[in-house]
Amino acid sequence: MKLENIILKKKNKVAIIELNRPKFLNALCDQLVMELNQALDSIEKDNSLSVLVLTGSEKAFAAGADISEMKDKEFIDLLKDDFIKPWERLSKFKKPVIAAVFGYALGGGCEIAMMCDIIYASENAKFGQPEIKLGTIPAAGGTQRLVKSVGKSMAMEMVLSGKVISANEAKEIGLVSAVFTTDILLTKTLELADDIANNSLPVLIMAKEAVNRSYEGSLEEGMRNERSLFKSTFSLLDRKEGMTAFLEKRKAKFKNK
Ligand code: CAA
Repeated sequence: MKLENIILKKKNKVAIIELNRPKFLNALCDQLVMELNQALDSIEKDNSLSVLVLTGSEKAFAAGADISEMKDKEFIDLLKDDFIKPWERLSKFKKPVIAAVFGYALGGGCEIAMMCDIIYASENAKFGQPEIKLGTIPAAGGTQRLVKSVGKSMAMEMVLSGKVISANEAKEIGLVSAVFTTDILLTKTLELADDIANNSLPVLIMAKEAVNRSYEGSLEEGMRNERSLFKSTFSLLDRKEGMTAFLEKRKAKFKNK
């Protein structure tokens, strides 16, 4: 498939996907989501890539689902074809994903950012779930992930009023982990991505799965899964190398094995 709505780049062990539909503020049309999913499949299979950075343009990370594609749909159309279903691919992506958010991350854009493991934002970033203003509600996990990230009161405030918050507010409530000036956001994100990518890929995948199990399920189930993944790291040469390197006071040389 020719990529017309995203740009895919690779830098060392880091893949970078840029949402690229600037005329429509990266509104997430079906074609864009198909291209995104194709890129995710190829990055997941590529053993030379350990981390993904997902970003947009300077004005918008993504302004939500494509309203012009949704406008004339009827309930029966959604019953027959759940157009949001393919969006879930990102949340199942095994390798670490960092969102670098410039500009608007609204509706589905905010939901896509929340599917990423870490969100870094530029000072001009704006987050919100304005679906209520369109007479509907978030559909790609917004009501669920927001409450986990920022707590019930703020999630309710955002979902019920549709208010849009600034990058600094998003940092204050824990939606993003850092805010940078627009000129350095990408550099800072790539620094973090490189830092993460220098770790063992199989262990990164296990660590991500362990954290996600807590995020997505119960404490007891999450703890059980964490313990079993911890034990599994002892089948890796990288686990042995990491501990040996520490005791020999040198940097570990991971081989992703
Ligand atoms: N879908 C389709 N087109 C969109 C869009 C969207 N979500 N967001 C922006 N656009 C289009 C505009 O229609 C406009 O197109 P034209 O030039 O052809 O008129 C173009 O992008 C530029 O947008 P604006 O002129 O509106 O730009 P602005 O700077 O004045 O405002 C904005 C920016 C505040 C983000 C405004 O565009 C906006 O409010 N967008 C909609 C945000 C929204 O409601 N998102 C939720 C969508 S529903 C959803 O996502 C459901 C879900 O949970 C899955």
